[in-house]
Amino acid sequence: MSKNKNILVVNGPNLNLLGSRQNDIYGNLGLGEINQNLIDLGKTLNVTLEFFQSNHEGLIIDKLQSAKTNSTHGMLINLGAFTHTSIAIYDTLLAIDLPFVEVHLSNIFAREKFRHASYISRIAIGVITGFGPKSYVYGLMALSDHIQKA
Ligand code: DQA
Repeated sequence: MSKNKNILVVNGPNLNLLGSRQNDIYGNLGLGEINQNLIDLGKTLNVTLEFFQSNHEGLIIDKLQSAKTNSTHGMLINLGAFTHTSIAIYDTLLAIDLPFVEVHLSNIFAREKFRHASYISRIAIGVITGFGPKSYVYGLMALSDHIQKA
């Protein structure tokens, strides 16, 4: 059997509050439960997962830069509000040039206009938005499929 692929799951600001944050929009699951679901799925997909959440733009940049040298094969990324604001994280993703799927719990296109634009979508493999906690599950399936073929 081929060796497991390493996937980094990155969550940006306020996603540590999932489960107690606007549950009508983001659902009832906490980030820990979402991550556990991904661990369970990861076992069936032969991927090894690492999880990182930060409310700080610079710490996310540092983590992404280190992914390049840490034999990460792909990333599942929900940048939260930094999706719509961060040219700096976009530049990091350009620099490290690793495949990633962008995910959002809510449908960003059904919300305020400022959420419709993402700096990072143009360089993502694809974007999954609007399926609540399942967005991560579908995102991991799509990412795993993509990198196992590579
Ligand atoms: C989000 C959507 C963003 O607009 C928002 O700032 C978030 C969460 C989502 O998962 O739906 O924090 O990325």
